[in-house]
Amino acid sequence: MHTVSDYQNYFLEYLSEKAIVKEPRNLYEPISYILHLGGKRLRPVLVLMTSEIFGTSHKEALDAALAIEVFHNFSLVHDDIMDDAPLRRGSETVHEKWDVNTGILSGDAMLINAYQLFENYDGSIFKELAKLFTKTAIEVCEGQQYDIDFETRDNVTIPEYLKMIEYKTAVLVGAAMQMGAIVAGASETCKSSIYDFGRLLGIAFQLQDDYLDAFGNPETFGKQLGGDIIENKKTFLYLKALEYTDTDHKKQLESLFSLNPENPSEKINTVKHIFETTGAKERTRSEIKKYTEQAFKVLDNLSISEEKKKVLQDFGNQLMNRDV
Ligand code: IPE
Ligand code: IPE
Ligand code: MG
Ligand code: MG
Ligand code: MG
Repeated sequence: MHTVSDYQNYFLEYLSEKAIVKEPRNLYEPISYILHLGGKRLRPVLVLMTSEIFGTSHKEALDAALAIEVFHNFSLVHDDIMDDAPLRRGSETVHEKWDVNTGILSGDAMLINAYQLFENYDGSIFKELAKLFTKTAIEVCEGQQYDIDFETRDNVTIPEYLKMIEYKTAVLVGAAMQMGAIVAGASETCKSSIYDFGRLLGIAFQLQDDYLDAFGNPETFGKQLGGDIIENKKTFLYLKALEYTDTDHKKQLESLFSLNPENPSEKINTVKHIFETTGAKERTRSEIKKYTEQAFKVLDNLSISEEKKKVLQDFGNQLMNRDV
């Protein structure tokens, strides 16, 4: 096993070999731009790490890792169009730097490229990876549609929200880990447990993303702070605030989330204040911890060394305490 930063470096080296700009430049430049803009590289690191947890060199898993990261970046380019987001990883989003059409087509090409990378695997491994990828990619689309639908719905429930984030975000984290296990030829039980570990960690991860969207540090977050409030996203923070507030504040919050003011800074400040006074902020932190601990519980059923379990736990704890 290597360290997380080793896996990041192996991945970055592979990425720089593979993500090259060719003609037509207006298709490939935005792809190279977004892929080299940085980011935590969480998902590819998990693919590489998991293949080694199950006894196969990370080198075997590089194409699967790249496929997952290219797919993730495709989903971000389209997500930023859908969320009208100006900033990504501290820089302009693709549709701001170029235009919406460029974002659509470069995104499409990335989705196809991701699929193509699985062709580097033979026979049964190719089939298993492609099948998991297809199922996951469709679920991500379903999650993204729920997310958009919820913007204009005023009766979203917590279970609906949890299902939405499971689909838009968590299944890809689960799939990243399962892909590492597939490449390593792990048993069915191991593949399904490691998927579940990733899925639960992924739910915690999206809860944390929602938390940081409101309460993150503007110096490090890299995205527009308050973006979810501007877009009337029905996050855990919002739903918990509604649950724990008195009737007057409930009305105020619902009415704020039906507006799209020209200058949103007052809306953002008022909403954040309500998130704090209703305890929604603290409840969100507890929920992040709850899902991270549920993920750790899955490790009890997994027959890998204690040392490897510790690597996974340290990773989970780092995610929970991140500020980017
Ligand atoms: C952002 O993902 C989209 C979500 C699913 C929350 P990341 O937070 O992993 O983004 P990067 O790749 O590190 O920029
Ligand atoms: C994004 O969720 C999920 C996908 C891209 C599939 P968000 O919309 O919360 O992600 P950010 O905050 O823009 O990174
Ligand atoms: Mg977004
Ligand atoms: Mg979104
Ligand atoms: Mg977000």
